[in-house]
Amino acid sequence: MYNLLRSILFLFDPEKVHYFSMDSLKFLCRIKFIRNSIAGIFQPKTSFQPTVFNLKFKNPVGLGAGFDKNAKYLTELEALGFGFVEIGTVTPLPQAGNDKPRLFRLPEDKALINRMGFNNDGTQIIVERLKNWRSKQQTTNNKQRLIIGGNIGKNKVTPNEDAWKDYEICFNALHEYVDYFVVNVSSPNTPGLRELQEKDSLKKILTTLQAENVKKQIQKPILLKIAPDLTWEQIDDVIDLSLEIKLDGLVACNTTIDRNKLNTNNSTLNTIDAGGLSGKPAKDKSTEIVNYIYKKSNGQIPVIGSGGIFTAADAQEKINAGASLIQVWTGFIYEGPAIVKNICKSLSPKK
Ligand SMILES: Cc1cc2nc3c(=O)[nH]c(=O)nc-3n(C[C@H](O)[C@H](O)[C@H](O)COP(=O)(O)O)c2cc1C
Repeated sequence: MYNLLRSILFLFDPEKVHYFSMDSLKFLCRIKFIRNSIAGIFQPKTSFQPTVFNLKFKNPVGLGAGFDKNAKYLTELEALGFGFVEIGTVTPLPQAGNDKPRLFRLPEDKALINRMGFNNDGTQIIVERLKNWRSKQQTTNNKQRLIIGGNIGKNKVTPNEDAWKDYEICFNALHEYVDYFVVNVSSPNTPGLRELQEKDSLKKILTTLQAENVKKQIQKPILLKIAPDLTWEQIDDVIDLSLEIKLDGLVACNTTIDRNKLNTNNSTLNTIDAGGLSGKPAKDKSTEIVNYIYKKSNGQIPVIGSGGIFTAADAQEKINAGASLIQVWTGFIYEGPAIVKNICKSLSPKK
């Protein structure tokens, strides 16, 4: 069924289809009966309900950052069974992102390339939306809560030496309304951002947020999202720093700039040009990095595995490599709305 729908949707511009599909779902979900029916169809049944960084997840399958950048579709994503949704990347001020087109499908590789450039509504509007959503949550007396991650970044115009201030602004603004934070310094689409993965810059940003965190009544877990294109030495630095400052976890990995071993022909790739590659071709490297972190840290750093997860087998591979939770994004586009249910059906904890 979804195969047919996908072949129709794939005839149109990817970014327009994204908003058209989610707005249509939102429209349908306004009617309680339809929303409950959708939830009835897509809710996974699983006893795999991990507690990670002191948060209880109703299932280990989350939606990666960048899908619901503006926290507009939380009710609908909850109906589709996600255990957690990472909103953002949120920047202090709203920004339009890069020129369109900026999202491309690579069907022969079951992949996407994007150079969105942190298009988002900014902290102020997004906080209002989260506030609203949370107040409705309380009145609906939700038993198994959807966990919300806040993925934060810097505005394009902010120079790298001041980047920590942008992260601090986002952290303080969102603190009351998200369950955990992810510091995104690994998107390839904001010029110079990935230089912040260098140890000193990372330490400045992360320790600033930790210092803010202890001032709050309730502390929120802080994670760091890394690029799959780091060298092993750089990953060693990230692991050392994470242990040194007692970071709550890592997300491995963001999209890659590597274009090796793709089936899509070079002329198409040249036309698409720059951007982060996600989906099937990103799977193995991200699993390798998850496993490297797990082994090097003796399992001391919880990792959210992200990259090329389409099926239960892909998810199990990440869990067996040492991931505590997993996230999908490109797989959701290719596999459709039953992806969470299908993954949960046969996913089990690491043995
Ligand atoms: C269109 C698009 C936009 C994305 N935007 C963000 C973002 O804003 N912040 C972020 O941390 N990751 C972003 N990502 C990366 C995903 O969260 C995920 O880490 C990556 O795509 C690898 O997972 P996948 O192979 O399952 O897609 C984006 C990915 C895509 C495809």
